[in-house]
Amino acid sequence: MVAKKNHLDYSSVPTTAELENNSNQKKYTVNRTSKGDLVISKIVCGLLVLLAMILIALAALLTYFLLPYCPNEATPEALRKAVVKDGPARLPRSIQPLHYRLQIIPFLEEGNFTTNGAVQINVNVTESTNKIELNINDIEINQHSVAVKRVSDDKSVKVSDQKYDNESQKYIISLAESLKEGDQYQIAITYNGKLNDYMQGFYRSSYIDSNTKDVRWIASTQFSPTDARRAFPCFDEPSFKAKYTVSIARPSNMTSLSNMPKRESVVVVDRKDWIWDHFKETPQMSSYLVAFVVSDLQPFRFNSSEKLFTIWSRRDALEQTRLAMDIGPRILSYFERYFGIDYPLPKIDMVAVPDFGFNAMENWGLITFREAVLLFDEKISTVEDKRAVATVLAHELAHQWFGNLVTPKWWDDLWLKEGFASYLLYYGVNFVFPDWNILTEFIMTEVHKAFAIDSLKSTHPLTFTVHSTDEIRQMFDPISYSKGASIIRMINNFLGERTFKAGLIKYLHTFTYSNARRDDLWDVLTQQAHEDGNLHDDLSIKEIMDSWTVQSGFPVVTAVRNGKRVDVSQKRFTFDKSFAEDTLWWVPLSYTTDLRTNFDDTSPKQWLKKETGKNFEIEANRWWLVNPHQTGISHSSFFMTSSLWIASLL
Ligand SMILES: *[C@@H]1O[C@H](CO)[C@@H](O)[C@H](O)[C@H]1NC(C)=O
Ligand SMILES: *[C@@H]1O[C@H](CO)[C@@H](O)[C@H](O)[C@H]1NC(C)=O
Ligand SMILES: *[C@@H]1O[C@H](CO)[C@@H](O)[C@H](O)[C@H]1NC(C)=O
Ligand SMILES: *[C@@H]1O[C@H](CO)[C@@H](O)[C@H](O)[C@H]1NC(C)=O
Ligand SMILES: *[C@@H]1O[C@H](CO)[C@@H](O)[C@H](O)[C@H]1NC(C)=O
Ligand SMILES: [Zn+2]
Repeated sequence: MVAKKNHLDYSSVPTTAELENNSNQKKYTVNRTSKGDLVISKIVCGLLVLLAMILIALAALLTYFLLPYCPNEATPEALRKAVVKDGPARLPRSIQPLHYRLQIIPFLEEGNFTTNGAVQINVNVTESTNKIELNINDIEINQHSVAVKRVSDDKSVKVSDQKYDNESQKYIISLAESLKEGDQYQIAITYNGKLNDYMQGFYRSSYIDSNTKDVRWIASTQFSPTDARRAFPCFDEPSFKAKYTVSIARPSNMTSLSNMPKRESVVVVDRKDWIWDHFKETPQMSSYLVAFVVSDLQPFRFNSSEKLFTIWSRRDALEQTRLAMDIGPRILSYFERYFGIDYPLPKIDMVAVPDFGFNAMENWGLITFREAVLLFDEKISTVEDKRAVATVLAHELAHQWFGNLVTPKWWDDLWLKEGFASYLLYYGVNFVFPDWNILTEFIMTEVHKAFAIDSLKSTHPLTFTVHSTDEIRQMFDPISYSKGASIIRMINNFLGERTFKAGLIKYLHTFTYSNARRDDLWDVLTQQAHEDGNLHDDLSIKEIMDSWTVQSGFPVVTAVRNGKRVDVSQKRFTFDKSFAEDTLWWVPLSYTTDLRTNFDDTSPKQWLKKETGKNFEIEANRWWLVNPHQTGISHSSFFMTSSLWIASLL
């Protein structure tokens, strides 16, 4: 199913530059009196509020009926449900993987779509135990092959029992003696897997060669979030970061790719016309980011001085990779400069996979795409297609830092990578296509998409406890992506770009090749904000942001002005009036007035501190405008960054 974005008309949306130019204000919601004073008419205001309400309702309906547009969120329907009925299916922390040596032979033969695999996992024991629990799914272990030995002296440890726990997708190896804390061991296993056709794990897909009309088979991977365990036994949780040395066997007339460049290729001894490709060792990474592709797709590099990027596609479609090849390297180097951290791997392959369940997947160094979001045909593709290629590409490239280099500790903080990729993509695209003014689309594309879901009773908090693979899959929705991006934008606005960016860079440096929770981000941002003096000393970002991440929904803020005095109040916004809600948020209140006009100043002058309402005085003669950064969005002048405003202007 193609995840499509809601179509909204941006033609009437002014650019930021237009907004900042006062002479243009007349066009948007503002009337000029003969004296030249700005007065916002009540009628216009009322109409706008009404229009905005209708738009929200429409957006909600659209979102309900169409799958939302968002990279890697559309779970293919044909998927088999991974069954973990209840309770945590987490692995114990007592054994930590350090290094995987993985060798896989995929058979792409009609009637025999299987794999032979061998894995040796070096582990560090952090707590004595006589049990090893690994994740597997739909894999058959060769029981006699299972061996455990101590690395320091090669002394083997006797396996006393081994069994599948198919419900929790685990393989449990019991040992005759305990593994000692602080020692390293090697677990060796050979197994048989399947190249399934439901686009999870290591899977097969095909296309028809347009010249010969032959069926061409491809073996490709989609491990995120919990399907590396379908390709090899592993510690399949994002915080078990390890290094991977991968070898893939392939027929000599196909190619193989993995996260790292090839170290060498050698002929397979006992198999005619087969080659082993040995890849270099990866840096520390999570299992869901491991990837391989075996195919006869062709490489394309129209710029021979470009060393980092290669795009792979069907031979017929090679010309259509030009757009991605043009903007990919530029977006990547933009992010390198933005974060001040070089892209850490030696190459990026981008592959247009003929059958792909998601829009794209950010596997480190081997990004896979649905054809429709990587290929672009100048002759027949639309502007929307071009936008899709650029936004998905920028999203996946932002992940190389937010997600791949620094990874959420667990899936309950999925927004920590998806929200950031969805937010930062606007910067990346704005860099390569400045004339698109894509930053002005953010409110309609992300904030309102989040509003639409978040105003329903069935919404959920940005972060909540997940255990089973089903629950984890459900996290990939517009709340994680669009609401995540929206609250990040809100933080950026109330902290200011300088503090925000400095905080992000510190966060990336602190947790490089490691994992973080949202509280780690809050700590770094709080520290930065206190250093820069733009957050009150006894206030923390965590205190503010917990009201947005742990609670579901969003507030509608009503502001009533009476002369100098302004009364503001907040209430959860919901379409379903039948459920009473007393959730309260920390809401930054920014505004500008006719006496101190600065439409660019988004720093909060007041806060609603998890309180129903408050009043304060403003210095205004004729008009004041809440949420100035949003003034440009003509049919929603009174919506703020992440909460909904209805302003009564007198
Ligand atoms: C698939 O083919 C390989 C290589 O020819 C062979 O070793 C394996 O046994 C076959 N598997 C099945 C299930 O036929
Ligand atoms: C192994 O675990 C211990 C803690 O039990 C830790 O001190 C040590 O650094 C770990 N070794 C490696 C290589 O990660
Ligand atoms: C568990 O999965 C393995 C491998 O797929 C299979 O051989 C075994 O029969 C399954 N066990 C149960 C109880 O379903
Ligand atoms: C590769 O060779 C095999 C047999 O030698 C053949 O069946 C297959 O079609 C070839 N594939 C390609 C992509 O040429
Ligand atoms: C080719 O790539 C190099 C290095 O990335 C870049 O400097 C140059 O501008 C590119 N040329 C074209 C024609 O895109
Ligand atoms: Zn993503």
